[in-house]
Amino acid sequence: MLNILSPSILAADFNRLGRNIQDAKAGGAKWLHIDVMDGIFVPAISFGMCVLKSIRSETDLFFDTHLMINEPIRYVKEFAELGSDGITVHVEACKDVATTLKAIKECGCRAGLTINPSTPTNVVEKYLDMTDMILLMSVEPGSGGQEYIPESTERIKEVKRMIKTSGRDIDLEVDGGIRLNNVREVLDAGANVIVAGSAVFHGDIKKNVSDFMQILNGVNK
Ligand code: DX5
Ligand code: ZN
Repeated sequence: MLNILSPSILAADFNRLGRNIQDAKAGGAKWLHIDVMDGIFVPAISFGMCVLKSIRSETDLFFDTHLMINEPIRYVKEFAELGSDGITVHVEACKDVATTLKAIKECGCRAGLTINPSTPTNVVEKYLDMTDMILLMSVEPGSGGQEYIPESTERIKEVKRMIKTSGRDIDLEVDGGIRLNNVREVLDAGANVIVAGSAVFHGDIKKNVSDFMQILNGVNK
C-alpha cells in the first residue's frame, strides 16, 4: 500500500496558513490533515468551516478531515460540501457509528473511523466493511506537540492484523507525536498514513516534508 504523509495544519502559523500549505505541497505532501475540535469531545476548540472554505479555494491537496466533535453526523454533510475528501469520526463520539459512516459515504467522501489510545482496538473490527481508513490515535486527542505513546506500536500491529484478515483495502493512519526519529517504527508496525503536525510545520516546512517523504518512499530504509 502507498505510504502517505498527512501534515496537520493544527501546528501551522495561522497568520501564514496559505503559505505554510504551499510549502508543505512544495515538499511533496499530497494530503492535509485538518483537526476540528469542539471544546466538548476534547477540551480545546480549534477551527471549523470558514478555515476549510478558505484553504479549499487555494489548494488541490486531499483534505483528510479529523472531526474531534460529539455527534459528528450533525456536520458530515457540511464538511463534505466544504471540500473534505475524507472524513474521520471518533467511535467514542458517535451514538450510531454505522449510520455516521454511511452518511460520510453518501456524501461521496472516504469514511474514516478513529479510536483514542484507551479504547480497545477490537472495537473497530465490526466496522471494517464500512470504512476506508482506520485512524489510531497515538496521543490523547486535543492538542499537538505531545509525545508518542509507546504502546501505540503494538496497537498498530493489532489493527493491521484485523485489516489483513478482513481482506479489504483499508488505510491505517496514525496520529500524534510522530517525528522523523520514530516514523520508521510506525511504518514498520503497519501504518501507511502518517499524520505529523509539529514535526512538519515547526521549522523549515518544505525540508521537513521532503525528509518525511524520503522515509515514506523507502529512500532512507
Ligand atoms: C491531536 C491531533 C493531531 C495533532 C498532531 O489531537 O489530532 O492531529 O495535530 O500533532 P503532532 O504531530 O504535533 O503530535
Ligand atoms: Zn488529528
